[in-house]
Amino acid sequence: MEKQMLRATINKLEQLGEFEVCNVTVDPKFELGAVLRYFQNEKPILFNKVKGYNMKVLGGLYGNRQLYYDLMGTNKEERLFKFMDAIANPQPAKLLSNGPVKENIITRNIDIPKMLPVPTSHGKDSSSYITAGMLIVKDDITGETHMAVRRFQINGGNIINALVSGASPHLRAQMERYNAMNKPLECAVVLGYDAPYLLASQISSTKYGIDKHMVDSALRGEPLELVKCHSVDLEVPAYAEIVLEGVILPNKTIVEGPFGELMGYYGEVAPVPIMEVRTIMHRNDPIFQHAFPCREEHLANGLIREIEIYNSVKAVVDVKDVNVTVAGGCRLHAIVSINKKNEGDGKSAIISALGSSKDIKHVLIVDDDIDIYDYKDIELAIASRVQASEDVVIIPNALGSGLEASHVARGLTDKMGIDATKPLGEKSVLFERAEIPGFEKIDINKYLPGIKNK
Ligand SMILES: Cc1cc2nc3c(=O)[nH]c(=O)nc-3n(C[C@H](O)[C@H](O)[C@H](O)COP(=O)(O)O)c2cc1C
Repeated sequence: MEKQMLRATINKLEQLGEFEVCNVTVDPKFELGAVLRYFQNEKPILFNKVKGYNMKVLGGLYGNRQLYYDLMGTNKEERLFKFMDAIANPQPAKLLSNGPVKENIITRNIDIPKMLPVPTSHGKDSSSYITAGMLIVKDDITGETHMAVRRFQINGGNIINALVSGASPHLRAQMERYNAMNKPLECAVVLGYDAPYLLASQISSTKYGIDKHMVDSALRGEPLELVKCHSVDLEVPAYAEIVLEGVILPNKTIVEGPFGELMGYYGEVAPVPIMEVRTIMHRNDPIFQHAFPCREEHLANGLIREIEIYNSVKAVVDVKDVNVTVAGGCRLHAIVSINKKNEGDGKSAIISALGSSKDIKHVLIVDDDIDIYDYKDIELAIASRVQASEDVVIIPNALGSGLEASHVARGLTDKMGIDATKPLGEKSVLFERAEIPGFEKIDINKYLPGIKNK
């Protein structure tokens, strides 16, 4: 019985009735991605037949918010506290002597384009890219394991790029130390993981500086089961599908890009460090995990940002919930609901939310009677509770996200907060919501047989 990682996830998705299988042959160049994109990348699909390869591909896995909660065994109300608890109380992982990922170990003639069905997503992409690969590195100072999703451009043979963005100064600093010593940095790329593993990976090493494998164990409520790699001194999940082991070469780069990124534009073309793959471990009949590059695939990153904004706002205002929206790339836009107790709480919440990360560009603060996941409710707040001259705050020329085209074009970002909360006191009667007594309990089936209650 599979307990952890991708095959356990497939079992759960099947139980939830949320798993599709495609038995038509698809081309990994554009066609496979087009099918995933058709469903906004929110439908897990296993492609059994991939043109030119014997390996299956699974995509569309972690882009749907409700499904993510289901896979984590949580819900909208409890998730912030469950995730915070895991970060505050990391638990030990468990090292096994062997595991399914070691069923096959390849150390010779590694030719990634021939061996792995790596998809090409967009028309102007420079190559195919491993987009769901989890880069594992051991911190050379603390010995802690850090893992994070990174993208890897395929360059032929056993050479891939490893894009470590400026949002990862911790790993960048380690790479600089290795460059200075001209020493290769041991690393591994894991494919075939589950929702807790992905969520733990999205915690910032710079902010928390904790072993992410231990956060994963706390999140899943049992020890993460690991095995030692074959050729590098690292541990990887025993139930992963595929692991690429190797080194990031010091002081060597290859130009990476163009690549159609999460916001739907082609990002920067720049020299990026090289990873030399020296060993591939994989399970029997492995499944290649793919993340179509789009906003939905960054949901896990947004779920962690929600915790950060929640904590930042909580220090000053009674905060209820935070939605870092998928439409804003799971990093640029936040909607925060508060229980307003003082005039000025809305502005305090704006300052705290914008200050939580350089990426957050626009924040909207609403009262706790607004459903922050319902766009009609959100617009109601903007349309009926905002006066721009008083409620809009603009901070010009801040540092923003490198993944946001208008920031890259200008080099700086204007940040904006909108306080869409109602006034307190006498004027609050103007905002009383008109309700129908008994509406919540209406059984629509009684009036229109055959129509299900919402
Ligand atoms: C689907 C997806 C793709 C990502 N691609 C990259 C990437 O190519 N490079 C990168 O540095 N971060 C990427 N990230 C973000 C990092 O995984 C994330 O910021 C992580 O928390 C960084 O961890 P660190 O603080 O330990 O460096 C991606 C995240 C997701 C969810």
